Amino acid sequence: MCGIIGIIGKNQASELLIDGLRRLEYRGYDSTGIATVDDGILNRRRASGKIINLEKEILKKPISGTMGIGHTRWATHGVPSENNAHPHMTEKVAVVHNGIIENYRELADGLGLKPSDMESETDTEVIVHLLTQKLNDGKTPLQSVQEILPQLKGAFALCMIFSGHNNTMIGARVGSPLAIGVGDGETYFGSDALALAPYTQDICYLNDGDYVIATDDNIKIYDNSDKVVERPIVKTSLSGDSVGRGNYETFMEKEIHEQPTVIGDTLTSYIHPAKQTLTIPDLGVDFNKIEKITISACGTAYYAGLVAKYWIEKLTRIPVEIDVASEFRYREPPMFKNGVAIFVSQSGETMDTLEALRYCKKQNQKIISIVNVLESTIARESDAILQTQAGPEIGVASTKAFTTQLTVLLCLSLSIAKQIGKLDKKLEKEFVSALLELPSTISQVLAEADNIKAIAENVAKAKDVLFLGRGVNYPIAMEGALKLKEISYIHAEGYPAGEMKHGPIALIDDSVPIIASCPNDELFDKTAGNIQEAIARGGRVVFMSDSDGIAKMRKMTSTSFAEFCVPKINHLVAPILYSVPVQLLAYYCAFIKGTDIDQPRNLAKSVTVE
Ligand code: F6R
Repeated sequence: MCGIIGIIGKNQASELLIDGLRRLEYRGYDSTGIATVDDGILNRRRASGKIINLEKEILKKPISGTMGIGHTRWATHGVPSENNAHPHMTEKVAVVHNGIIENYRELADGLGLKPSDMESETDTEVIVHLLTQKLNDGKTPLQSVQEILPQLKGAFALCMIFSGHNNTMIGARVGSPLAIGVGDGETYFGSDALALAPYTQDICYLNDGDYVIATDDNIKIYDNSDKVVERPIVKTSLSGDSVGRGNYETFMEKEIHEQPTVIGDTLTSYIHPAKQTLTIPDLGVDFNKIEKITISACGTAYYAGLVAKYWIEKLTRIPVEIDVASEFRYREPPMFKNGVAIFVSQSGETMDTLEALRYCKKQNQKIISIVNVLESTIARESDAILQTQAGPEIGVASTKAFTTQLTVLLCLSLSIAKQIGKLDKKLEKEFVSALLELPSTISQVLAEADNIKAIAENVAKAKDVLFLGRGVNYPIAMEGALKLKEISYIHAEGYPAGEMKHGPIALIDDSVPIIASCPNDELFDKTAGNIQEAIARGGRVVFMSDSDGIAKMRKMTSTSFAEFCVPKINHLVAPILYSVPVQLLAYYCAFIKGTDIDQPRNLAKSVTVE
């Protein structure tokens, strides 16, 4: 959600803070701000909108000090505006906050604050007032923080600086992540390690409930019972270069084009290319004894899980229950004793997914997570982790994270089938070799990007778009629709093609493009039949299949349709390959419409609030 950066350094902090905020802008971008302590005095600059506005403000009114905090906001309480932008401050303390303080109204009432006493409409401001009261009572910054933290309900990461303290920063986390970077005589705070990558590779992750008091050369961490604790300092593989756009117009375009490489990297962790065998690490589960697998995730990651449901049930015959995490966690589903629960998350910080995980843990489920960020909370709270090797994903709309999640999930599905004796050596070889073809077949699709761009010229004019698929490709239709909605703001729905006749076919006319993902598999004739029904009613179809599928479709109808030819691929692996053309289609529609592709309106990456 929001991004936090803090620097206790040797040089002027404002430029470094802005640089850190730029790396965090993907987390939220409706307003930004920084505060520093200079000669014991707190200074602040804020601006609504993107970081460029804050830079202009600082150019007009420079701000000095070698220690400071910064924030890029995704609004939860209060509209995006300069007044609501962080840091919030009094003359005693400045605070940046990621997350939500659920009981802020009660806390404000407890302090006797009237709306007219508040500078903003945010939940964060109450923290500033709570701290100021303690400081006015003569408490030290650390004592003040220690006394107010137990009062705060919700999920939050905080970073705080205090007037009169040029070399002291305090951070705290409950729910939302916070990382500390340890430099050479410098200390950094960040809501993720990516923001800290240019400054240091030595990162210390706070545990849930921890708080920390830091100077330029020392950090002291306390757990939630106020006991001093040691947390390991780990080396991050991220570097300052991990987050460049290269020669691409946008991060999303770069990330779409990285897919052959990152899928290749991911495969190397889970298969032996020469022996053509699966090499998934031992997860400590005897799947012969498992009666049901539960999968939970949000958004794109949920669609990856939905594809996996088809794979696991088909390959292993173990029933799979899947639900979006925000529903799952409140539905309180009954669970088999000693079952397996799988969570899929790029960031590893999505609050709904994390809470669903915690629910399953309480139900004695074995927790397996598929995450991109190894140091994330979801990864750390899991019994076993299967990492996607997507690298940092900055574009808000997920692309390479999705296809690497699918890659891991297929390797996992095959491994479970192998463990329970439902996948013989010959089939294992066949599927592994199909997986190994992915990087080159995806490159072939990417090489045809201009054809998709031409199709997008038409689709971008539409108000509504329908994506269709069947079986294991039905979730790809939903993912295509989600991508189009997110970045082009065109209304889109993903539907199982067979359901058209039960309602949505009423929508069909020549103004509603229909994007059909239709691999030439055992369901081809059924799906193609559904598509023909739409064509017969004037629907403008974009038909995505391999050359044989397209030839068959041409024979089935005399009406012309737009087509995109996808390389032939094993049917089980097809959803991974067919994800790429729908990503490209969404990308080009947004490009043609001139939207802000990497930072679409109202969205943020890593949703750490409910
Ligand atoms: C869509 C998108 C979101 C995320 C969802 C879960 O393009 O990116 O739907 O997939 O918010 O995020 P993670 O995977 O970080 O848990």
